[in-house]
Formats: sequence, C-alpha cells, structure tokens
Amino acid sequence: MAIDIRAIPRDRAAEFLVPLGTTFGFTVTPERVERIRTVTDLDTLIGACEGDTIVGSAGAFAFEMSVPGGVAVETSGLTLVAVLPTHRRQGLLRRMMRSHLDEAHRRGQAMAALYASEGSIYGRFGYGMAALRADIELRRERTALSATGASLDGKGRFRLLTEQQSASELPPVYERVRRHRPGMLSRSDVWWRVRRIADPDWMRAGRPPLQRVVLEIDGRPMAYALYRLGAALTSMPAELPLDVVECVGDSPATTRAMWQYLFEVDLAQTFRASFLPADHPLLFQVAEPARLKLQLSDGIWVRLVDVGAALSRRGYGAGEPLVLDVTDEFCPWNHGRWRLAGGIATRTEEAADLAMDVATLGAAYLGAFSFSQLAQAGRVSQRTSGALEQADALFRAGLLPWCPEIF
Ligand SMILES: CC(C)(COP(=O)(O)OP(=O)(O)OC[C@H]1O[C@@H](n2cnc3c(N)ncnc32)[C@H](O)[C@@H]1OP(=O)(O)O)[C@@H](O)C(=O)NCCC(=O)NCCS
Repeated sequence: MAIDIRAIPRDRAAEFLVPLGTTFGFTVTPERVERIRTVTDLDTLIGACEGDTIVGSAGAFAFEMSVPGGVAVETSGLTLVAVLPTHRRQGLLRRMMRSHLDEAHRRGQAMAALYASEGSIYGRFGYGMAALRADIELRRERTALSATGASLDGKGRFRLLTEQQSASELPPVYERVRRHRPGMLSRSDVWWRVRRIADPDWMRAGRPPLQRVVLEIDGRPMAYALYRLGAALTSMPAELPLDVVECVGDSPATTRAMWQYLFEVDLAQTFRASFLPADHPLLFQVAEPARLKLQLSDGIWVRLVDVGAALSRRGYGAGEPLVLDVTDEFCPWNHGRWRLAGGIATRTEEAADLAMDVATLGAAYLGAFSFSQLAQAGRVSQRTSGALEQADALFRAGLLPWCPEIF
C-alpha cells in the first residue's frame, strides 16, 4: 500500500507515539500522550501513513536557540523521530526530513536542531554536530573548590522550592543566562512546567523525587539547581548518589555557590551531572580535573535551513570579508557561494576562500568547532591562503555552546 507523509492532528497523539514506543521500547500510556498534547511548542507532528496507520513519526518544536553575538534564532527542533521496524529502510525518514525542512523553510526558521540517537543518521540531511556535551561523576572527597575566583556580593540564602514556586522563580535566572550562551533554548511557561519542573511518578520511573533549590541574594533569585538525591538505601552509614539535572547561575560567583551547595548536601557521596558544556568552570575549580571523570560525546546537532539568514543573524569577530562555497544537495536553495561581510551574508559570484558542505557549516555555526579543526578532518577545503585563520577569527565565540536538556 502507498505511504504518504502528512500532518497529524494532536488528537491522534496516541497513534503518533506508536512508532516511537515500538522503536525505543516504552508503553504509550495516557500520561505520555497528554504530555505531547500539552506542550504546545511541539507544533508540528508529521506522520508516514499507510492508509490510516501511522508507521513513521517526526515532530518539531518551535523555539529560539541562542547563537554567538547575544542573539537568538528561530529554530525547528526535530524530535520524536521513528519508523516501525517493519517499514525501515524504505525511505520514510528521508521523506519526513523533506517535509520537516521544507516546513521550517516556509515558516522562516533559519535553523533546525536535534539530539541524535545515532550520529550516523542526520549528516546526509545537512545536520552537523555543533556542540559537545560533557558528563561528569565525582566522589565527595574530590569536590573541594578552589578558594580563588568570584565570591558572592551580598548575603546569599538558599531556599527549597515547591513546583509552583519554581515556575515563577527559576525562569528569570535562566533568561539572564541563555542569551549569552550559544545553544540554549527559549522556554515557554508550559515548557518550564511540563518539561523541567514537573515530576510525576510515571516520568520519575522509580528514581528519587526532583528537588528544586534557589539561591537568593538580597531577595532576588540568582542561581538554581534541580537534582535528585538518593536511591534505594542499601547500607548504613548511608551513601547516596546525587544527580544534578540542571544547575544554572547568572554569574561565575552564583554558579560556584550553587555547585558548592550541591557538594555539601549531607549523605551525598557521588555526584553525577550530564549535558554540561565542555568548558564548564568546574574543570578549573576542582583540585584534580581528572577526578571529574569527564566524558565528552555529541551534543546538539544543527542544520542551517536558510544559510543566508542564519549567517546574517549571528555575531562575528572583526575580520575581512570571506567567501564560502556551500554544498547543499538536500536544500538546494542554500547551495552556492556566500559573501560574508560586516556580519551580513549575500549571494556572490566571487571566487570562494573556503568550501564545505552545509553540515560542516552547521558544525561551525555555534562556535564549538573551528574551521581549522574541521579542515584537519577533511571537512573544509581552503582555496585562499590564510582563509582558515580568517574564518576562525570571525566565527570565534566566547563560551562554548550549551544545551542543558535533551528534546
Ligand atoms: C532512524 C530511523 C528513523 C530511520 O528510518 P528509515 O525510514 O529506515 O530511514 P530511511 O529509509 O529514510 O533512510 C534514509 C537514509 O538514512 C540511512 N539510515 C537510516 N537509519 C540509519 C541509521 N540508524 N544509521 C545509519 N544510517 C541510517 C539509510 O541507510 C538511508 O541512507 P541513504 O540515503 O544513503 O540511502 C529508524 O531506523 C528508526 O526508527 N530507528 C530507531 C529510532 C531512532 O533511532 N530514531 C531517531 C531518533 S533521533
């Protein structure tokens, strides 16, 4: 039977989740379905339909992602991608990706982003690995932080928050941070409530409850942490693991103070955190960085949907104009030469200084990887002497990208 790709209405969320439940091995419960319905930022559901049966799925969130230069770009966040094992390798993902990128282009979303279950899938569609994620695990006896560095101005007070208090007190802290850190997402109220703060039994799945703590200085929230302490108590004296879900401070001093708080929680012996930026300050604050057991893996992947618009949105360092020759077979409207001058990208017939495919440009876009580094991997070719250094200087960003959550 022919299979067509079409938009799926929200009231079919239960059927929409069947391919994902089947491929990732979870039960499609009413709570999961409700979550899909509630988070209205998930505004695109695409299905591969065989008659009336949904055999493949792809969803897209609409959010902004921060990019270098203190600006945020409208982004299509690809999610919930799955094809039933009975229908795999028949081109359904390819057809859904066509629909996803055409739709993002039509809506004027200059970028798309995703987390990949397997890094080998999305390069062919123009996505490039644009950030590294760092995971750490350290023992309590290794958590002493160096005395040097910023200390708090004013009197700090930590308060544990209820779910409701968190919904109003945490977002302003995050908002102050996100503009200045490439890779961070805008979060709607419902995103905060449902995807960050809520902790229903079905999502907790046997883990300890989510605790929420805020650091106030002179009555104003300046940092917060979401964490889980404990597991089944198996021994006395009790030694509990503490899992940091998110720890955000609006300055070096408040970030340090928040981590210090976590490291002093009584009974916690092992601290684990995932989805940290690869340049996390703890690397320079603990006595022995090796004891962080830092593990790097691919973080967010970025696809420039509209190369001209995306390049013209981000900020740059000082430098001479540069011509990039971009290959983009999947989205041919991007294909060709782009002149980048004064922070604006325009079409040009001038000879190229550098050539690369669009996935490689996506990898460089947030500033995590330099063109020199990508050239070492054979991903960029230099046509004019000195162009790699020039591009590196233009695209360099202060902080590495950080997307603290999977979506
Ligand atoms: C990943 C998945 C959606 C692919 O769907 P599919 O319909 O089989 O993919 P397609 O037939 O459209 O394949 C398109 C291309 O991607 C390649 N591809 C697909 N899945 C791949 C994978 N897991 N690894 C490497 N390449 C893959 C195909 O070989 C094909 O390559 P080609 O264009 O060079 O011929 C499907 O295998 C799946 O549901 N996997 C489990 C869930 C999952 O990982 N989802 C992704 C979440 S981020």
